[in-house]
Amino acid sequence: MDNDELFEIVQLINKNFYDRVYADPWLRKMFEIVPQDVIESQQTDFMVGALGGPVRYRGRSPKDAHPHLFVTEEIWQRREDHLLATFKELNIDDQIATKWLKIDNAFKQAIIKSSLDECEKRFFTDEIISLDKKAA
Ligand code: HEM
Repeated sequence: MDNDELFEIVQLINKNFYDRVYADPWLRKMFEIVPQDVIESQQTDFMVGALGGPVRYRGRSPKDAHPHLFVTEEIWQRREDHLLATFKELNIDDQIATKWLKIDNAFKQAIIKSSLDECEKRFFTDEIISLDKKAA
């Protein structure tokens, strides 16, 4: 696969994935602080680089991008469910899907938190975002 093909497939995955995330009445509350097209293009640049393509992403590292978000295990799983549904719907090659999940999981411990006290604002006007527990 050349770099253009890699970019195209990552873009396709992110579009399908964030369409699901922003349509999820529970999870979307955590993402609404940023426009969907912005996060899609940041994630595409980030993932293309992480998957071995050109490194265009110049933003914060995942570790520094989420200190204000109270991401619980339950939120993490919900996000991953959407990602797996995307891989399935688009019939994504196992090799890419496995690599993608491995990259995500490498940042899991840096992103998830066990209590609200672990959240920190990145700057003065930042808001700490948490979700109510998912209605079963
Ligand atoms: C449940 C897990 C996650 C949630 C709820 C989440 C949510 C978000 C949100 C809301 C933002 C925008 C932050 C803002 O502008 O205030 C963001 C940014 C970002 N996220 Fe995540 N994310 C999650 C997992 C991940 C993972 C696994 C990665 C990478 C492998 C990642 C990479 C990034 C990057 C690169 C940015 C852009 C950073 C920046 O430019 O500031 N995220 N995320």
